[in-house]
Amino acid sequence: MRELASWLSGDRRPDAFPYDAVVAEFRRTGKHFVAKDLLVQLDQVRRTAVPPARAQAAGRFLRDFLDVTLDKFDGRYDYQTYLALSLIRLPDDPATVRRRHDELTVQLIADALRFELAAASGATESLPRQRPGLKLVTKRYRLGVRAFAPALGRLGLLTTTATDPAITAAQLCDVVLSAQGATERRALDASMLPVDQVHDEYLFIRVLQGYETTFAALAVELGQAVAEVTAGQADAAAERLAYARRLLDGAAPLFSLMATVQPESFRTFRVYTEGASAIQSRSYKRVESLCRSPATDRLDSMAYRSVPEIRDTVVAGQPSLDEAYRSAGLSGSQRALLGRRMTEFGAALLQWRQTHYRIAVRMLGTRPGTGYTEGTPYLAAVRDLPVFAQPDEPQQEEPT
Ligand code: HEM
Repeated sequence: MRELASWLSGDRRPDAFPYDAVVAEFRRTGKHFVAKDLLVQLDQVRRTAVPPARAQAAGRFLRDFLDVTLDKFDGRYDYQTYLALSLIRLPDDPATVRRRHDELTVQLIADALRFELAAASGATESLPRQRPGLKLVTKRYRLGVRAFAPALGRLGLLTTTATDPAITAAQLCDVVLSAQGATERRALDASMLPVDQVHDEYLFIRVLQGYETTFAALAVELGQAVAEVTAGQADAAAERLAYARRLLDGAAPLFSLMATVQPESFRTFRVYTEGASAIQSRSYKRVESLCRSPATDRLDSMAYRSVPEIRDTVVAGQPSLDEAYRSAGLSGSQRALLGRRMTEFGAALLQWRQTHYRIAVRMLGTRPGTGYTEGTPYLAAVRDLPVFAQPDEPQQEEPT
């Protein structure tokens, strides 16, 4: 690629790397079909021009970008690299988690809607195969607007009086995109690397990244809740769990969006996503194990073997909310309140699993999963696993 050759022959500043040209080429063919020459060139960049691990932000971003683009070349393609999770800065800091969750959520959804709007008006040639019809796209506008309404509202960005779904979606996208900085824009662009040229893979990737954002935020909230219960601050932990439940419930329209992915499109591109499965989602397993330490058989199954770093923290004795709830010296009323919030959060997660199962059945039928399980029978077997061991308090009416 000319742009890469010229970058390599110049002063090789990471912030001047030709991201747009590389991303455009990946999107033109699909990641699975990128020309070997380009991959060899990117490998050359990695070997000769990438700054050391302690580099400035621009250098680190370039390292992560190469890690994501060379995954298939190296034979390490997986869920983390498919979704380019290292590029999108998932919420991980307790001090900023709520704002970061909302910002990233609205950006991901706005970008997905922007692609739908561009394709519908003929303004993009990206991913041209199996374009959806107008009725389906209009449904996506509606669901997309619903999906980012809670976060947009919390950020104070909810400003439209339009009623036409396409116009509403376009206006809200403009609001979000105008609040976006150049670094964020670059990260978002670079994190969209579909494996094929099928239109619906764009939405598929953004929805998965959206749920990853939610699970990452939930993991931070639950980690904080465990610390609070241990410190005897059960009321703060209860508030946190209530917030976490609202976050998970508020993300439900993402599943409705996912349900609009055309099953035949899904089956077309998933041929090239083999080896990348959300069974490798670290955030999801973090959430699960922070609620309750997994039983030995689950810890030793594909579920946790697919996320070795999370398995290690569990084996090393990561405390869970369940244990903290049982062992902390809480008063009767604290115990009752916290128990209630745990039950409610648990119900929301069970509901999530049930909806996920239904979508998987619809899209996949009896085909195996891409994470080396037998597919939906695996999901059927794990969907009812208790989120918490039964909180031992009788349910009481909430004081008014
Ligand atoms: C077309 C939509 C989807 C299909 C067909 C699907 C299918 C599957 C299948 C078959 C598995 C079992 C593991 C495997 O072999 O791959 C799985 C696991 C999983 N999926 Fe999905 N999925 C879909 C959407 C989603 C979405 C939107 C999320 C949100 C992040 C998600 C999160 C998960 C998680 C966390 C697991 C691991 C569950 C566990 O180990 O208990 N999936 N999915």
